[in-house]
Amino acid sequence: MKTKIINDVGMIASELASGNIAGIPTETVYGLGANALSGNAVAKIYETKDRPKFNPIIVHVKGIDEFEIFGKDIPRDVYRLAEKYSPGPITFIVRKKEIIPDIVTAGNDSVGLRIPRHPLFLELLAQTGFPVAAPSANMFGRISPTSAEETLNELDGKIRYILDGGKCDVGIESTVISFVDDVPKILRHGAVTAEEIEKVIGKVISGKGEKIISPGMTESHYAPRKPMFIIDTDPDEQEMKDLNAVFLDLHKFGDPLSMAVNLFSEMRRLDESDCGIILCRKIEDKGIGIAINDKLERASTGNFRVENGVPVITKLKYA
Ligand code: TXA
Ligand code: MG
Repeated sequence: MKTKIINDVGMIASELASGNIAGIPTETVYGLGANALSGNAVAKIYETKDRPKFNPIIVHVKGIDEFEIFGKDIPRDVYRLAEKYSPGPITFIVRKKEIIPDIVTAGNDSVGLRIPRHPLFLELLAQTGFPVAAPSANMFGRISPTSAEETLNELDGKIRYILDGGKCDVGIESTVISFVDDVPKILRHGAVTAEEIEKVIGKVISGKGEKIISPGMTESHYAPRKPMFIIDTDPDEQEMKDLNAVFLDLHKFGDPLSMAVNLFSEMRRLDESDCGIILCRKIEDKGIGIAINDKLERASTGNFRVENGVPVITKLKYA
């Protein structure tokens, strides 16, 4: 199968309507979309990505008034947040209605609903008339694509079309917040921060400092092929040469929002360079920095420092 990058939303709409899957731009990262109401179509997402069947997929809808069609017992706080941050990079986990096939939610009785902000995705949703289930368009465990070309790089030969929506303007995945229990809980940190959420609905459990418990939150994720290590201080030139290392220097992008926009494409670029290992440093752990540091943590093989010219691994994740 030849994979083409196209600009025609109508063609993507008919590809999805005929039960196939396609690459779709969102403001966060590119998605691999299917008709969320067709179990057979959604099964193709799992197959194509090699995604474990226990990991539920987010359902993208075109507006707040569709929440009730697919979810039930939706608390007021969901609407308060959606009024402020949707369309945008936030996903609400609520109890699901029967109409959503079990394969979408991996058998859970909750569903993740998100209104994407990318104008082409919104146009697509208007044309399909059905909601679109879409995980990030990377092979399972790997770096999420943030442009049509990166999506092609991940899925070449596996799907027919990728809709070209340019470079994603957020760059990291949506914040996932669950409203299934009494107190709302952030399952994945993203561009809408815990602080911003608490300003609207009060105290939430933020998952920071404890293990994040979303079913898909396996430890290794967003991973380059090269080993990537977290270090505490900037490496010096000679050390880098000796180690055949490259440095993922996020500070060159300026503020944390720009770091998020460029994080995955920079990781991908360094992964494709002819280095042996990638070194990176965390940024200040606040605001969107919490999400960025979480990605670095999951993408890394461990931590290390250089002592008298000798690299010492201080933490190894899979030992
Ligand atoms: O920004 C995004 O959210 C992107 C774009 C394409 O919309 N999508 C995305 O999907 O990142 P994915 O599948 O790569 O990550 C979705 C996360 C997973 O960790 C999954 O476990 C969690 O959301 N999730 C989805 N539905 C859930 C549910 N019903 N209960 C708990 N967690 C859920
Ligand atoms: Mg993903």
